[in-house]
Amino acid sequence: MLSHPRLERSCVLALGLVASVIAAPCDLYSSGGTPCIAAHSTTRALYSAYSGSLYQVKRGSDNTTTNITPLSAGGVANAAAQDTFCASTTCLITIIYDQSGKGNHLTQAPPGGFSGPDLNGYDNLASATGAPVTLNGQKAYGVFMSPGTGYRNDAASGTATGDGSEGMYAVLDGTHYNGACCYDYGNAEVSNKDTGNGHMEAIYFGTSTSWGTGAGSGPWIMADMENGLFSGESVTNNAADLSITSRFVTAIIKGEPNQWAIRAGNSASGALSTYYSGVRPAASGYNPMSKEGAIILGIGGDNSNGAQGTFYEGVMTSGYPSDATENSVQANIVAAGYATTSLTSGPALTVGSSISFHVTTPGYTTRYIAHTGTTVNTQVVNSSSTTALQQQASWIVVAGLANSACYSFESVDTAGSYIRHYNFALLLNTNDGTKQFHEDATFCPIAGLSGEGNSIRSWSYPTRYFRHYANVGYAASNGGVQTFDAPASFNNDVTFLVVDGFA
Ligand SMILES: *[C@@H]1O[C@H](CO)[C@@H](O)[C@H](O)[C@H]1NC(C)=O
Ligand SMILES: *[C@@H]1O[C@H](CO)[C@@H](O)[C@H](O)[C@H]1NC(C)=O
Repeated sequence: MLSHPRLERSCVLALGLVASVIAAPCDLYSSGGTPCIAAHSTTRALYSAYSGSLYQVKRGSDNTTTNITPLSAGGVANAAAQDTFCASTTCLITIIYDQSGKGNHLTQAPPGGFSGPDLNGYDNLASATGAPVTLNGQKAYGVFMSPGTGYRNDAASGTATGDGSEGMYAVLDGTHYNGACCYDYGNAEVSNKDTGNGHMEAIYFGTSTSWGTGAGSGPWIMADMENGLFSGESVTNNAADLSITSRFVTAIIKGEPNQWAIRAGNSASGALSTYYSGVRPAASGYNPMSKEGAIILGIGGDNSNGAQGTFYEGVMTSGYPSDATENSVQANIVAAGYATTSLTSGPALTVGSSISFHVTTPGYTTRYIAHTGTTVNTQVVNSSSTTALQQQASWIVVAGLANSACYSFESVDTAGSYIRHYNFALLLNTNDGTKQFHEDATFCPIAGLSGEGNSIRSWSYPTRYFRHYANVGYAASNGGVQTFDAPASFNNDVTFLVVDGFA
């Protein structure tokens, strides 16, 4: 057949126009007949036409809030707007907005079977700055959730109930997890309490071995169906549920009557794999399911809040998505270009150097961070001080024990011991080689909150910073429940000049 040159040219132009409107995850689910009924992300729009608010942050300096939107419809979050709003203070993520139009926003999770750490038993809010990333080179922030942090919506609309069909995915940090219950995203009880088998259907990510397990030592993606984290058909080992090794992970759970599946992929490259697809657990209560339709993030259905993890984006759908639809969503996630970026700012520290932390709070500037035995405190130190005291106030900078993008601080006089937080006090303890110690001893210095020097932020609790309070060292949050979290003088108390070590 002869081709008509003018027709061919206009077809190419038309194709070019179509290709320039890049479908986002919820456009793809919609095309597949399983539309999003909740779409949450602090990093980007999940519909190509979405230009509304992605999330709300609240700053510590005056308790005011602002909404962060995409830079353009369908685009990456305006991280610069957050950086401006949060400059020289602390910021928490107060709302993760639902982009689906159903109003299924996530806010601070209330107490239920378990209470959260705040005065009213609510869970903590996440720092707005704990999980910086780039998407195709543009900066954005994920939701870095420490133990005790949780978000929830107990009055969601359009979510699956009973044995209704649904799908969900979440993009998570594959290196941020623990073995506690339960880092979840998905469908849960509306009462915040354990109401029995089959009353939840959520993505779980972590190394819990209390119920199911997968291959290796984890972390695994499992389905939290209440009173069980399932890696496969029953609460047992499913060797096909592989340990996650990628920095960014796409985690998928979906369920319909007597059928459910686990799928997973590296969010930065490649395709999804299916780790389980089959019938419901045989134990009573799981077939049929009794889903209740609340939405949780970072906690279990009964508000179990001991787990940790990082959430970048996720959705829930109406209907059981096809593998093909999910495969196209994975391709879109890969195309979004998730990558790591610096966790530190302000004056740079040098690995291998000896440093001292000079207090900047007016009236206390003869003091430096030091230790007396295992207690980390501040002491008056100068060039006339004893060698012993100068050594107590000197620290060797090493690569962060839990994350080499940050640092750990080894005692000059007690080799092998590091500053770590424990019950939010700073202690000098021997590195026992555990994941917990490594995380407790990893800190990410940022530009000092008071406008000079550095503030030394905890990697694992990014709402918390080195603070001196009554001359004792703490990992303090701005306006938290402990006395040492007091907002008065917070910026000065968490700002230190990092100087050459006395010893
Ligand atoms: C912010 O609110 C908290 C409690 O809600 C309060 O303790 C604190 O003083 C407030 N801070 C400012 C700067 O208003
Ligand atoms: C120097 O430090 C010692 C404690 O080591 C203290 O007694 C002395 O007052 C300090 N001197 C000055 C000038 O601050």
